[in-house]
Amino acid sequence: MPDYEKEKELAARGSLRYIQQGMTVGLGSGSTAAHFVRLLGEKVRNGFKIEGIPTSIRTSVLAREHGIPLTDFSQKNRVDVTVDGADEVDTALNLIKGGGGALLREKIVATATDFLIIVADSRKPVDTLGAFPLPVEVIPFGWELVAEQIKGLGAAVKLRMTATSHPFLTTHTNHILDCRFEEIPDPERLSESLRRITGVVEHGLFVGLTKLVVIGRGDGTEILTLEGGS
Ligand code: 5RP
Repeated sequence: MPDYEKEKELAARGSLRYIQQGMTVGLGSGSTAAHFVRLLGEKVRNGFKIEGIPTSIRTSVLAREHGIPLTDFSQKNRVDVTVDGADEVDTALNLIKGGGGALLREKIVATATDFLIIVADSRKPVDTLGAFPLPVEVIPFGWELVAEQIKGLGAAVKLRMTATSHPFLTTHTNHILDCRFEEIPDPERLSESLRRITGVVEHGLFVGLTKLVVIGRGDGTEILTLEGGS
């Protein structure tokens, strides 16, 4: 059985070489991105100068604990490089994200980023997206109507619940619908269809945003790019 924690750490470590002094760095969310934040914090404590833009409250707490200076979009309008995790990555580097519920901020940061790097363990690459349920953030009012429309697009839809059986609330006090499509052969088309549904705030398909993926596999890393290697 592979050591997935080690693969996550290797992937995060592999992304560090793309971060240069003086950059504004988007800090992703989830357990793999957390390795990156800790490793970047080590560099910062040794005098490396960058500023971070966190994609979640949890990441901002972690970044502060590790001494990373933070900034935000009142100070910057672009991000040089972001390192984030993903739930699935297809061969065209399209993603499903949002397993942790931070997809809205993650997408805001990703779309403001010049170079989005995804770090992940060896379970995340897939031929076709869709086995992982696609998270869709929706306004609480009328979520049932939105769920019906997404069912009409071919998904089995579940309202995400907390461990105490309450509807999960995002940082922006919205709900998440976890939508199992099984296969998403045309992510761009589905992205457009979801965007047209009133009540959808954002969804976890990240289409055409990623430049490079670092996969931890066994004792090493693999780099995926659209050109097929680096
Ligand atoms: C959070 C995310 C995460 O990046 C994604 O769920 C991957 O997490 P992990 O690295 O823990 O597997 O999109 O919203």
